[in-house]
Amino acid sequence: MTTKPEEANGSRKRKPRPQGLEDWRQWPNYEAATLGLRNYWYPTVWARDLGDKPQGIKLLGENIMLIREGSEVYALHDRCPHRGVKLSEGKKVFPGTVSCPYHGWTFDVTDGRLCAALPDGPDSPIVGNVSVRSYPTEEALGLVWVFVGDEKPTPLRDQLPEELFTNDYVAGGRITPGRYGNWRFAVENGFDEGHARYLHRDQAFMMFRQMPGWARTKIVADEDGDWLFRVQESVEYESDFPGLGKWPRRKITQVAQRKMTPGEVGKRLDPTIRSLNLPGHISVRLPGLLRVAWTTYLHFEWYVPEDENHHRYVQYAVRFKTGPSDFAFRLRYWTYIRWLFHGKFTGRDAWMVEEMDAPPERLFRPDVSITRWRRLVESAFEPKQDKKKPAPAKKP
Ligand code: FES
Ligand SMILES: [Fe+2]
Repeated sequence: MTTKPEEANGSRKRKPRPQGLEDWRQWPNYEAATLGLRNYWYPTVWARDLGDKPQGIKLLGENIMLIREGSEVYALHDRCPHRGVKLSEGKKVFPGTVSCPYHGWTFDVTDGRLCAALPDGPDSPIVGNVSVRSYPTEEALGLVWVFVGDEKPTPLRDQLPEELFTNDYVAGGRITPGRYGNWRFAVENGFDEGHARYLHRDQAFMMFRQMPGWARTKIVADEDGDWLFRVQESVEYESDFPGLGKWPRRKITQVAQRKMTPGEVGKRLDPTIRSLNLPGHISVRLPGLLRVAWTTYLHFEWYVPEDENHHRYVQYAVRFKTGPSDFAFRLRYWTYIRWLFHGKFTGRDAWMVEEMDAPPERLFRPDVSITRWRRLVESAFEPKQDKKKPAPAKKP
């Protein structure tokens, strides 16, 4: 599905590996994917926010202009071929077109063809000889999706969680463009096994949940090899660290906290989430989508590459209920989840993604989540006929 980056195994001179530290040479395609994975669909803006005023975004290092024409959305390369001004700074002068703000070159939004060069008159000879690249677009889940790549687009639905098409639900979400940090750091942080129990332990969102101190975890793939799951084989809530003392230390707030053991979560699990038979409550898939199964709702986050140092962060919380529960979830989202989870909690992740600077790195046991994710990316570059399916997860 993906194309091989030009420099995957090239003759770049590598710095010698610092002693005891590891670089990314065993994941050459991953290492080369600084600007993201091509030939995938990416979520961009809320569909309701896109009208006939063009909007400029950045995806995988490419400037792209989005615009709506009636019920359809379109995406063009956001650069006027005349003198390089952004088309997203222009406007719609005629239906079905966008005009560059500088000299009024006017492009058909459906295919990027130059259909008029206004200050050169209706018989301008350049018309018909110039076009800008157009990108496949779709609307789904209330979002505008753009396919960035060189191959024929695959169906968008193949890339999205199936449960979002087979159930009614209500959703709330937050899009953060320009979040600092390479997209790979953002995915790795999302699927990182070890960090939550330390980084997020004292956060308000965890006030009523008792977090384990540590866990033994394995990573398993689903039957299609699309999703990787973190499966906890055992969890420990308090341990003695010889010579140091106990950790985590009990706090007064823990009196009201619930131990989130898999068994306990199972008892209160939303029936639709239960029916998914997820082997672990956190899962990840290409090209960079994390799914977190809380007891009553699912949280998704897409890490959309913008450039080397920025990504668009799309958070999406889903409750499989409609009717009065629909209103109840919206209220809960806007008064609680959006603030404490999609704001404060993941804000601390944003801090770490911003700070991360790797390779080199020195990985520890829980980082199997990170290395397994990197292997999943590498497997997408293998020729399809040779592609080995990762071991299927055992369904409980
Ligand atoms: S730069 Fe766009 S019309 Fe001149
Ligand atoms: Fe986190």
